[in-house]
Amino acid sequence: MGSGPGGRSRTKETARMYRPQNLRIPGPTFVPQSVLSASARPMINHRGPEFASLLAALTRALQDFLRTQGDVLLLTCSGTGGLEAAIVNTLSRGDRALVFSNGAFGERFHSIAKAYGVDARRVDVTWGRAVDPDLVRDELAKERAKDGAKAVIVTHNETSTGVLNPIKEIAEIVREAGKLLIVDGVSGAGAAELEIDEWGIDVLVTASQKAWGAPPGVAMVTMSPRAWKAYDRSDLPKFYLDLQQAKASLEKAQTPSTPAVTVFIALQESLKLMAEEGVEAIVRRHRDLAFATRRGLQGVGLQLFADEQYASPSVTSFRPPTRVDPKNLIRILRDSYDTVIAGGQGRIEGQVARVGHMGFVTLQDIVSFFSAVELTLRDLHQPVEPGQAIAACLRAYDEATQPPPRATRPASRSAATVSARR
Ligand SMILES: Cc1ncc(COP(=O)(O)O)c(C=O)c1O
Repeated sequence: MGSGPGGRSRTKETARMYRPQNLRIPGPTFVPQSVLSASARPMINHRGPEFASLLAALTRALQDFLRTQGDVLLLTCSGTGGLEAAIVNTLSRGDRALVFSNGAFGERFHSIAKAYGVDARRVDVTWGRAVDPDLVRDELAKERAKDGAKAVIVTHNETSTGVLNPIKEIAEIVREAGKLLIVDGVSGAGAAELEIDEWGIDVLVTASQKAWGAPPGVAMVTMSPRAWKAYDRSDLPKFYLDLQQAKASLEKAQTPSTPAVTVFIALQESLKLMAEEGVEAIVRRHRDLAFATRRGLQGVGLQLFADEQYASPSVTSFRPPTRVDPKNLIRILRDSYDTVIAGGQGRIEGQVARVGHMGFVTLQDIVSFFSAVELTLRDLHQPVEPGQAIAACLRAYDEATQPPPRATRPASRSAATVSARR
């Protein structure tokens, strides 16, 4: 009947009732009802006119969101398939590449490159910290002495730790060095500021189930003209993930093989919702809710794992109280309070918990998350006052969303502090 040691007991009736979950993992994210309903429409011919106009509209909408005039190719696979496409379409066996890694996904990108015989050198950065642009400059300088790396590979938003890498600054350095820049934007695109063309990103990968608020199954890969030149020289084996094939099919408003039609439809619907809100507003909402989440966690004495200067707008990792096993905290949140968060990955597994706040997320979702956190901490015999985390979260949200002080009046102290903190 109950949810085990430490959990609040629940009656048989309520245990059997359908209770919606507050899905606070960093993807798959909550999918709005209108998006789900759109994807439940009768199936269409993927070689017919409806799909052709869907694909054309979807591609244009993604170009707008990702701020690129370059190609955006949609692949029926998860984000990892998109990462693999980025490698096999731009590099050759034995090419040198520098992979800057500050978490589990940086390590994954490195492993993919190695699996294809790329001479990928991994530069490890302490987990929880950002990749410093100066480090990129220094490591590229070292490469000059050797044959020289052809590409720099880096993660935009490191989901395993909750760090947003300064891609704009990194891109500037990579551009100066004349290297190809390949970015894992799986959990950052659609949530954080991103200017593919202006910043000079050659290849960027993202995935439908993250900030795009659609079901899993579609990866999106951008290719700059420089990336296509690299394609022409690339000799790595490719068939399903061959982006030239995807581009040739796109010109006929098709995909080379049967696409995940329902996910494509869902994605188009979620992009319509996103377009109504607008890119700037979406980026602001993520930033403000991430800030409110961090302050709410700290409000009940939980320690943030990542360097706050580079805090992710999509996911926040935190350490549970001393002597509380994160697995236990996650289990009680789920079993007693229908709140689903993620644990640590890779080398920080069992040390942190991660709460996602990307996609179609609202302040109410975050407040509801904190009500569950407070109850869970109480179940775990931790000192917590009712409303403690919620109050800290709401105060922070208020501060974050306060209109800027008018130029004629001297800036108020609290507003100045907020902007410095964010
Ligand atoms: C930054 C990052 N890269 C890659 C991936 C892998 O994506 P997928 O699980 O869709 O293959 C994820 C998934 O969480 C991610 O967050």
